[in-house]
Amino acid sequence: MKRFWVAPSILSADPLNLAAELDRISAADAVHVDIMDNHFVPNLTWGLPTVEALARSQKLPLDVHLMISDQDRLAPAYAEAGSESVTVHFEACQDPVKVAREIRRLGARPAIALKPSTPVSVLDQILTEFDMVLVMTVEPGFGGQSFMPEMLAKVRQIRSRLARENLDIRLQVDGGVKADNIALAAEAGADFFVAGSAVFGSDSPGLEISRLREAARAHIH
Ligand code: DX5
Ligand code: ZN
Repeated sequence: MKRFWVAPSILSADPLNLAAELDRISAADAVHVDIMDNHFVPNLTWGLPTVEALARSQKLPLDVHLMISDQDRLAPAYAEAGSESVTVHFEACQDPVKVAREIRRLGARPAIALKPSTPVSVLDQILTEFDMVLVMTVEPGFGGQSFMPEMLAKVRQIRSRLARENLDIRLQVDGGVKADNIALAAEAGADFFVAGSAVFGSDSPGLEISRLREAARAHIH
């Protein structure tokens, strides 16, 4: 059976109670950590010390999403910090292949993210260097925005290449993912779903995670 991953984004968690918030999402497949620098995106979150502390203190794999400038220089340290995957933005890398190889050498899975305005064709020559592609379904920077359904065309395009070339690469969507649109993303070919406000805005995050997983699964023929 096809497997779906659900990773809550702790951007929507209570930053003063992170440990307790992580306990509420033990049913998740990974924890999504959004790193923002007030430069690549107009918002500021955590940095390396937080990722190191998360890697030490809890068991779920860390899916680190870098929304910072100068990723060629800064991304490798996030791999060393104990992340399971490190997602770099195509728009913030000079040499994405070199960064991907460095992330892999340091023991993490490299992933590549595309902003809404970045076409899938930028991946033509570099896709196979990565273990995951992230199609942003909002403008990166903030939680709680609305899902952009027009991004599903990109998801479909990538899924058809993965199928054609028989590539074992995960396809992630991030931004505005909820129980009422996750099926559309799954149908288009996504298999890894990030959800911030949907999970942490729920009274019962554990149940919401299962609900998302079930909704994604239900729409696969
Ligand atoms: C946005 C972040 C997302 C965000 C998702 O830039 O990359 O991970 O936390 O939050 P929701 O699910 O609320 O859109
Ligand atoms: Zn993210």
